Amino acid sequence: MELNIIYNEDCIEGMKKIPSASIDMVLTDPPYTSPTVHAFGRQKVNRLSDLAIQEFYFAEIKKEWERILKPNAPVLIFCDDIYSAVLMGLFYEWQQKNLVIWDKGRIGMGNPFRKQHELVFYANRGSIELNKTNMSHIPTVIKETITKEHHGAEKPVKLLMKLIDGLTKENATVLDCFMGSGSTAIACLETKRNYIGFELDKSYYETSQNRIYSLYGGLFSNSFSTESSIETE
Ligand SMILES: C[S@@+](CC[C@H](N)C(=O)[O-])C[C@H]1O[C@@H](n2cnc3c(N)ncnc32)[C@H](O)[C@@H]1O
Repeated sequence: MELNIIYNEDCIEGMKKIPSASIDMVLTDPPYTSPTVHAFGRQKVNRLSDLAIQEFYFAEIKKEWERILKPNAPVLIFCDDIYSAVLMGLFYEWQQKNLVIWDKGRIGMGNPFRKQHELVFYANRGSIELNKTNMSHIPTVIKETITKEHHGAEKPVKLLMKLIDGLTKENATVLDCFMGSGSTAIACLETKRNYIGFELDKSYYETSQNRIYSLYGGLFSNSFSTESSIETE
């Protein structure tokens, strides 16, 4: 399977082509609530049982991650407060589980609570080996100003870079199953890591390609071949 490519396909299907024990980190940002809303046509998640679809869907993804991740590889998943509870339950048997607060630097909409944060759920089957030159410990609050230039749920490249830099070494391979506008791919290119990405939506996929093309020329866009790959099973 080619590295440094975003595949315009469903991540569960796409991951089947990734060789076992080949991924150094999952850093991903799934749609927090929309699968439930879209699946059932409801306006909001308001019953505990609604979360079952999230759990069911993520259990499928988790199975594939358990196959393709290296033994001590970290998983980082952007989530909100409710989703974090689902993830905590789902990854309960993994050795390490924790939450990092992303402080967005400004308050959002809402009444009476106006949230200034989102969460990053962390899990590891083994124990993490930090890249000590970049991160002596994992801080539980990271402040990085929100950006919304390319995607409604865009995550700041600088925040992703901090996580990638601290938790992996150069040339590591990072998987993002929900690439959106390609922020994780750009963070990988900036930190000299390889990436594999999936994005189902054609227009977001195209946004990611244009974004990468405008920053790096054709070098890492899908329409141009790359030299690196990992053996497909
Ligand atoms: C929260 S957004 C990611 C935004 C991204 N972090 C960024 O900075 O642009 C989640 C993305 O997952 C995509 N998506 C949803 N289901 C998917 C699936 N089964 N496989 C691949 N991508 C999917 C959506 O189209 C959406 O763009």
